[in-house]
Amino acid sequence: MAKKLLAGGKDFTPREIVAELDKYIIGQNDAKKAVGIALRNRWRRRNVTGPLREEIMPNNILLIGPTGVGKTEIARRLARLANAPFVKVEASKFTEVGYVGRDVESMIRDLVDSSVAQIRAAKVAEVRERAEELALQRILDVLVPPLKKKKHVEANGGGEKEDPEETTNERTRVKFLQALREGKLDDKIIEVELHNPMENLPMMQIMGPMAMDDLGINLQEMLGPMMPHKTKKRKMTIAKAREALALEESDKLIDNEAAVREAVERVENYGIVFIDEIDKIAGGGHGNGPDVSREGVQRDLLPIVEGTNVMTKHGMVKSDHILFIASGAFHVSKPSDLIPELQGRFPIRVELKSLTKDDFVKILTIPENALIRQYTAMLEADGVTLEFAPDSILEIANIAAQVNEQVENIGARRLHTVLSTLLEDILFDAPNDLKSKSIKITRELVKKKLSSIVRDQDLSRYIL
Ligand SMILES: Nc1ncnc2c1ncn2[C@@H]1O[C@H](COP(=O)(O)OP(=O)(O)OP(=O)(O)O)[C@@H](O)[C@H]1O
Ligand SMILES: [Mg+2]
Repeated sequence: MAKKLLAGGKDFTPREIVAELDKYIIGQNDAKKAVGIALRNRWRRRNVTGPLREEIMPNNILLIGPTGVGKTEIARRLARLANAPFVKVEASKFTEVGYVGRDVESMIRDLVDSSVAQIRAAKVAEVRERAEELALQRILDVLVPPLKKKKHVEANGGGEKEDPEETTNERTRVKFLQALREGKLDDKIIEVELHNPMENLPMMQIMGPMAMDDLGINLQEMLGPMMPHKTKKRKMTIAKAREALALEESDKLIDNEAAVREAVERVENYGIVFIDEIDKIAGGGHGNGPDVSREGVQRDLLPIVEGTNVMTKHGMVKSDHILFIASGAFHVSKPSDLIPELQGRFPIRVELKSLTKDDFVKILTIPENALIRQYTAMLEADGVTLEFAPDSILEIANIAAQVNEQVENIGARRLHTVLSTLLEDILFDAPNDLKSKSIKITRELVKKKLSSIVRDQDLSRYIL
């Protein structure tokens, strides 16, 4: 069962999901709650028995909010938590079927690919020890080839007689194996024979891998058996050879078909597709060129979101129970500019709020990847200690909010520009040209560096 295979992951409750997201995203509680519930509903459905299970459809979510307030960030963090096949796509990258570019079905193909990769990685981890052992044996066979067994049966008749040559060989092998295990020979160069499917690739490229992929056909798998299995001798360090051979051995140990079956099943039941920038394919302004194509993309999306069969190189995949989360800033167009059918397929709408000065203070300090932590860590690598006084952080947040108001509201992204301007000199002078290896950022310093820029709208338009 898939559950067992990916046992590393957890089945989070909605509260736990929100708590996990809280580590990285400030505020936006409605959005966090909505995705938390949706994620848990997958698990709930899985535990419903009988025909009702097939009837339970995912409640797709539409995240709406201005730029830079955490929509994409929520998706990114959710992906890590989900313990489920997950892809994030940009709606603006798709084109209508029949036009050059990616058609919408490719998102399902990507989802399957990522699921297969996930399952394969789990299976590879499962057989790793055995594969590594087999790899060691293969290296050993190259270093100290085993002697061909002499015909003992005839020579010995009754009691086993030791062949001195054989015993020496055996003993050497034991010694080498020991040394290999301990990694003592890792730097030595060795010549190993590797399977080389890549050899066949150039020909496939001529035939156009993109088009083939779009048809959902895996040429390599189709033609693979017909092509000669090539091996190639390659020189490399023993350490590298161990890796390469272990990979080859694990390939042989894994039941590929079962892995693919499991991967497809996981996609159909737990898959999540995050469609970013969906507002970019909404109608909006009327009469200008690309509208037709945008609406076409929306129409192509309908059946997939509703539930259809998509042909992939791993077989047919049903999209009925895949969860879709769409997101968009919708500052030019509105959700109501999407074609009505598509609106109906995203019944849960969540608005993300504009970020305030207080949010900025938190964003600068609380998340595990907070910007201030990032810069402090980077300078630490140069042996420089950077310290922010609490009121300096307040001032940075203040300035970011002010510029957002005066120039353009780009949300938390403003913090990046403000901080990088503030720290530019330090980042340039470190490590050798600083007066001191220990720097304290004070409120006065922030003001001195940034106030004049903030006051001058033209300047702040360009710099901050
Ligand atoms: N609520 C938040 N908490 C913490 N960090 C945030 C928050 N909102 C935004 N950020 C930070 O701001 C940056 C941009 O956010 P994000 O990519 O999520 O914007 P978005 O809402 O997707 O905007 P857009 O509509 O332009 O795509 C990210 O680096 C993210 O870390
Ligand atoms: Mg985004």
